[in-house]
Amino acid sequence: MRKALLSFLAVSATCSNAFTSLPQNRAFTATSSKSSLSMADLPVRKLGIFGGGTVGGGIVEIIQKKQDYFKELTGHGIEVAKICVRDASKKRDFDVPSGCIVTENYDDILDDDSIDMVVEVMGGTTDAKDVVFKALSKGKDVVTANKALIAKDLPEIEEKLEQCPGAEFRYEAAVCGGIPIIRSMQSDFPGDDIDMLSGIINGCTNFMLTSMDKGGKSYDEALAEASALGYAEADPTLDVGGFDARSKLRILMRLAFGIDVDEEDIACRGITELSKLDFDYAKMMGGTIKLVGVAKKVDEESVAAFVSPCYVTSDDSLSSVNGATNAVEVISSNLQSSTYIGQGAGRYPTANSCINDIVALAKGDKAPMPFNPFGKGKKFVNSYDSVFYIRLSYTDALGITRQCGEICEKHGVSIHSILQNPVTSKTDAAFVLVTEKVPLDSVKKAASDFEELDWCNGPVFYMPVLREDWVEAMSV
Ligand SMILES: NC(=O)c1ccc[n+]([C@@H]2O[C@H](COP(=O)([O-])OP(=O)(O)OC[C@H]3O[C@@H](n4cnc5c(N)ncnc54)[C@H](OP(=O)(O)O)[C@@H]3O)[C@@H](O)[C@H]2O)c1
Repeated sequence: MRKALLSFLAVSATCSNAFTSLPQNRAFTATSSKSSLSMADLPVRKLGIFGGGTVGGGIVEIIQKKQDYFKELTGHGIEVAKICVRDASKKRDFDVPSGCIVTENYDDILDDDSIDMVVEVMGGTTDAKDVVFKALSKGKDVVTANKALIAKDLPEIEEKLEQCPGAEFRYEAAVCGGIPIIRSMQSDFPGDDIDMLSGIINGCTNFMLTSMDKGGKSYDEALAEASALGYAEADPTLDVGGFDARSKLRILMRLAFGIDVDEEDIACRGITELSKLDFDYAKMMGGTIKLVGVAKKVDEESVAAFVSPCYVTSDDSLSSVNGATNAVEVISSNLQSSTYIGQGAGRYPTANSCINDIVALAKGDKAPMPFNPFGKGKKFVNSYDSVFYIRLSYTDALGITRQCGEICEKHGVSIHSILQNPVTSKTDAAFVLVTEKVPLDSVKKAASDFEELDWCNGPVFYMPVLREDWVEAMSV
């Protein structure tokens, strides 16, 4: 299959190209003789920003820096009128624009009729939801970076948007920070059919896995390193448990396949059970391990999804995505394979996505269905078939291979190969079974039976192989 690697820059260039075609009636320049307006006469979009932290500060800085350019681009001045924060007396690490009011009172923004665009970058799912919903009710456009809010309340947000047709809702920064994946999903696939979407969509875990793979670090060392560099949350469970990736996957599935799935229904396995040993085996197999969110068509009506560590071959575009970088690969009928790579977090990458939304709204761009139409007749199925990697820890005993074969046969798990690295301890060794393409449920049942056996030490670890055609090409 031909692979077209659309780099982050290429994607950005596509987006900015779209911006260069101004609507006829708005085209002007400050000095152009064609312009009937001077800069000073331009209408102004007044912003109320909820949040003056990492992302909020970046948004304010970019608006200050590029305000003349934005005027030319959009035909509007863009002014940060008010910023709402938790503690207005706190010193900010950015310059508050002159005339901008810093407040702790939500209504100072929500009740101000001169503010017609609200930017929600305060995070959380309770107050942030109130702010977003009230702003929409008052006909204000909303830009948000809040993945947690959208993933938790997606159906309610869609309902609210139907009730508020005059207000626009933009959320480019909510999934993969700086990568323009939302806009691409909204606008670049209407004539195409997406078969599969797979993404490295959590920077902290990708940083950790890279550190374990390339740096030979243990899980605990990798987590300590990620925490020290600010990639992990204070409580890293959302990252390492795969839950953050699952929230993003839910949003991407709504866009790619038109289906809405409860987050809890998407099978989610984090990286906590991975060990250095798994990377040794992955190397032996010629690839690596990545935490991937996957949604794929099972047939024309059904879509399966999961978040899990996956074995990834070295020629897969996701295998070379290292450190805290994010990537989403979309496989579709027309474009075949397109990969979007970039910074999934950080002040300027994330603020950049918010700015793109703000500028689009100032230009008057409309997204009548920000989550795309529903995929009529499509349903979510909570199981999938795949080639699996199954790692069993054992104490040496007679008949292990025979018993494995019997259990696999009982559950219809066809074994492709068995991998064994040199045994250094007879009481603490491990081997790996690579299966043919089999149902996840069968693997779960086999794993549970393995765990009952005397020689089996601790839980059996299994993960899918990302590409199903890989096993046919494998030579181990
Ligand atoms: N940081 C990233 O790289 C990144 C990437 C993608 C998406 N996001 C999303 O962007 C949003 C903001 O993230 P961030 O990193 O900028 O957070 P942050 O640095 O912690 O900043 C949060 C800001 O919101 C204010 N705030 C928090 N709760 C508030 C409340 N109840 N009422 C009023 N103000 C409140 C805080 O006020 P004080 O300053 O006074 O405390 C602070 O200014 C989140 O939804 C996050 O998930 C962030």
